[in-house]
Amino acid sequence: MVDTSDEWIRTRTGIIERRIVSEDENTSDLAVEAAKKAIKDAGISEDEIDLVVVATASPDLIWPSTACIVQNKLKIKNCGAFDISAVCTGFVYGLAVASQFVATGMYKNVLLIGAESISRFIDWKDRNTCVLFGDGAGAVVLQEATEGFGVLKNYLGADGKRIDILKIPAGGSAIPSSYESVEKKLHYIHMNGNEVYKFAITALVKSVKKVLSSSGFSLDEVNYIIPHQANQRITEAASARLKIDRNKIISNIDKYGNTSSASIPIALDEIYQSGKIKYGDLVITVGFGAGLTWGANLIRWNK
Ligand code: UT7
Repeated sequence: MVDTSDEWIRTRTGIIERRIVSEDENTSDLAVEAAKKAIKDAGISEDEIDLVVVATASPDLIWPSTACIVQNKLKIKNCGAFDISAVCTGFVYGLAVASQFVATGMYKNVLLIGAESISRFIDWKDRNTCVLFGDGAGAVVLQEATEGFGVLKNYLGADGKRIDILKIPAGGSAIPSSYESVEKKLHYIHMNGNEVYKFAITALVKSVKKVLSSSGFSLDEVNYIIPHQANQRITEAASARLKIDRNKIISNIDKYGNTSSASIPIALDEIYQSGKIKYGDLVITVGFGAGLTWGANLIRWNK
């Protein structure tokens, strides 16, 4: 479809495989699958969920929220539901927001999902973007933690002056859909790859340092950093700048590509399921993306 090669994609991005939704699947379907696994792992039933939060850059509809669709598909009654719009930083923003409901004692079980069928917004004739993105979902159930455990710190950033370097121009109230918007391909992801690349490395390094700065922990004490999976070269350049042991930085972009807000919870689930992550481990989740947005969460694993 485009002038590219497997070799270019592997060496420039680290991506080898990706997953793409089938025609009859939407973001909410992937979200529901991930949610069911997280709810089972938490040892609770769907009825015990107090709030559903979905971080997504590819919602089923502009509105209502994908969270409401997920709530209905999971047959959960009497709970709140809303989406978080922070694109690839969505799960990091979501964790910061959702954990507050538990910390304040307002809710006991908060379901947070990062889910994307971002392939629906890709121009398969744009080699700049069509080689990068993949679909997927991951979920967590947030519950009360022992003192000193759980989500310890959050750091969030944004720079709205730079919306133009990564965006879907049309489909909102600024440019509603029209023949013209379709002809001009304004419903697809438009990205200045180089600009995003440079921003991503700086944002990743800065977010890790910021979230640790007031925590009393040093980078040496951190067991794992789970970055948003956008490009293997971004992850490697950031880990070199942080001077952190390469084995502490989780990478699975080779299998899934850039799954936007789903990339961190998918990677988190993989290290959890593999038994790598242990009770008391310090984990940093760190994201960056359109907006521009960036941020990090410092977590002490309580399971
Ligand atoms: O979640 C956040 C969202 N996005 C990102 O994080 C993406 C961040 N950016 C990147 O990952 C990288 O900038 C890309 C992977 C998008 C591009 O890699 P790059 O090393 O920055 O390449 P480039 O844009 O500097 O382009 C180098 C060359 C150009 O050709 P010329 O001008 O040197 O002849 C491009 O036209 O590579 C060409 N090129 C490609 N060639 C084959 C760009 N895309 C492709 C492609 N296949 N898919």
